[in-house]
Amino acid sequence: MNISVIGAGQMGNGIAHVFAQSGHSVTLIDIAQASLDKGLATIGKNLDRQVAKGSITEEQKLATLKNIAGSTDMAAGVRAAELVVEAATENVDLKLKIFKDLDAHAPAGCILATNTSSISITRIAAVTKRPQQVIGMHFMNPVPVMKLVEVIRGYDTSDTVTTTVVDLSTAIGKVPVTVNDYAGFIANRILMPMINESIEALFQGVGGVSEIDAIMKLGMAHPMGPLQLADFIGLDTCLAILRVLHEGFGNPKYAPCPLLVQMVTAGKLGVKSGEGFYVHTPGSKELVVSPAFGK
Ligand SMILES: NC(=O)c1ccc[n+]([C@@H]2O[C@H](COP(=O)([O-])OP(=O)(O)OC[C@H]3O[C@@H](n4cnc5c(N)ncnc54)[C@H](O)[C@@H]3O)[C@@H](O)[C@H]2O)c1
Repeated sequence: MNISVIGAGQMGNGIAHVFAQSGHSVTLIDIAQASLDKGLATIGKNLDRQVAKGSITEEQKLATLKNIAGSTDMAAGVRAAELVVEAATENVDLKLKIFKDLDAHAPAGCILATNTSSISITRIAAVTKRPQQVIGMHFMNPVPVMKLVEVIRGYDTSDTVTTTVVDLSTAIGKVPVTVNDYAGFIANRILMPMINESIEALFQGVGGVSEIDAIMKLGMAHPMGPLQLADFIGLDTCLAILRVLHEGFGNPKYAPCPLLVQMVTAGKLGVKSGEGFYVHTPGSKELVVSPAFGK
């Protein structure tokens, strides 16, 4: 299948990776050449790691890389697409603009999927002339490792399109789970209030970063504490999702913690900026709490 992926960030390069590894022909598109180069380099590094672990061969790595082309020209990059998966920055206006453009440039039969964490699929679909072909395909981070694809049906998404996306997800080794389109769907409707509450507990001084994460790891058997997970997802993405939940349900329980707002304003976005609740040094796996939080 010809698949175009929009956005070469942490999710987009992972999505391109898994499709290409399953033999699909992928065009990875980003608005910025530097982000595209970084995304392609990340795919190379992740494939090297898979080879080192023995989970794929050198030949499979080369075949995967051969299946991926990069582009900064969206109109040209989707011209032959049968499926587009959009994984650009989590911003409503940006996504509405991208889907208007995709509708204008992608072939009539092309399915337009979005990897949005929280933005209404129905709202995105409504700016196109093909709402029955618009669907949520929500991969989890890191995409090559995580099995789940949350498949979200918008108000008009057709059964045929849903079946195609479910079957494709299964064929690339993922486990699709289909849900309906309400703010946050299922994954983030449940995850984000937990992360927000952890930040609130930190903000109120109930516990420190290490204590909060240790309690959730050891007490609830979570593989990673909520603050570490927030850093990993990106604090800007967490804030954007909470704002969608807050606005979508009109319920104050989803209001983002002021500390989260402050950190995003200061550019402390977690792993992607090098600092969030922890300090992230490339190549180091050591968990070092940010000096802003004392220890
Ligand atoms: N980070 C996560 O854990 C996670 C998990 C599931 C879903 N998502 C969703 O995936 C999407 C991407 O998130 P991310 O974490 O990869 O973000 P990111 O910031 O790492 O990457 C976003 C990329 O989009 C590019 N971009 C921005 N505008 C563009 C445009 N007009 N055309 C093409 N590219 C454009 C940016 O240059 C950047 O490279 C968001 O919708 C997010 O909610 C994120």
